Amino acid sequence: MEYNTIIFQVEEAVATLTFNRPIALNAISTELLNEFSNVLDEISTNEAIRVLILTGSGEKAFVAGADITELAKLNALQAKIFSAQGHRTINKLQHLPIPVIAAVNGYALGGGTEIALASDFVYASENAVFGLPEITLGIIPGFGGTQRLTRLIGLNRAKEMIFTGKMIKADEAQTIGMVNKVCAPDKLMEEVVKTAKIISGKGAVSLRAAKQVINNGANVDLTTGCQMETDAFALCMASEDAYEGTHAFLEKRVPEFKGSLLNE
Ligand code: COA
Repeated sequence: MEYNTIIFQVEEAVATLTFNRPIALNAISTELLNEFSNVLDEISTNEAIRVLILTGSGEKAFVAGADITELAKLNALQAKIFSAQGHRTINKLQHLPIPVIAAVNGYALGGGTEIALASDFVYASENAVFGLPEITLGIIPGFGGTQRLTRLIGLNRAKEMIFTGKMIKADEAQTIGMVNKVCAPDKLMEEVVKTAKIISGKGAVSLRAAKQVINNGANVDLTTGCQMETDAFALCMASEDAYEGTHAFLEKRVPEFKGSLLNE
């Protein structure tokens, strides 16, 4: 499918979704939000895609937040609809069955940080900047930032960022756990693709199971989370990939995961 505000490419098992509104530092317009949602639907039904990479076009921005020219015109009801659509889309991203890596290549503000927070992990270029500056516009984050940032970096750090609207650089974001790795700008995609390829070579069933158990387990008590793990572990064992992985080890060879979700 063709999109106006997103570039979507699939190479082998790795898909790359590039937010592409250079006119506004890739800010999230209604059109971009709808297209993002549609691409996520496309990905979730395509078994050939094993890993998704998110990035922004150009050298300056990942996503500079919601489009403020659109935002400024919203009444309260329209704002509620916009935020709800944002939540639906970001939840869809978080619950995408495959791993998602955010390659943050510049400003990731407001919705940009919220997209990074809903990704499975983040690699950032040295010039990346994170922040939830909505307070400066007289509003608050509307795509899950007050909830996901708090859960990731803790109440007090999140409150300071949200109350001040301050922007932080990649190294500080790494120190507080928002970023796994900081790369030179010209090495960012290389590093992300390298990790994506390692992941995409693993078994599809076990990757999906690991993501689901980690995500769902984060919202429940430890006993319930461990029970979820036991059930998912058993499910993995019934897959072709588990047979291949364990037998390859015993036969001293590299496993060849077919990635089929069906146990033929
Ligand atoms: N919505 C709409 N347009 C945006 C935008 C946004 N979120 N962020 C940037 N733009 C536009 C600017 O208006 C500018 O357009 P123009 O060239 O027609 O004037 C263009 O993108 C380039 O941005 P500019 O502000 O000139 O770049 P800069 O390097 O001086 O500053 C930022 C970069 C990211 C610090 C600054 O653009 C900014 O603060 N953006 C808003 C971030 C924000 O508050 N996001 C949360 C929204 S809820």
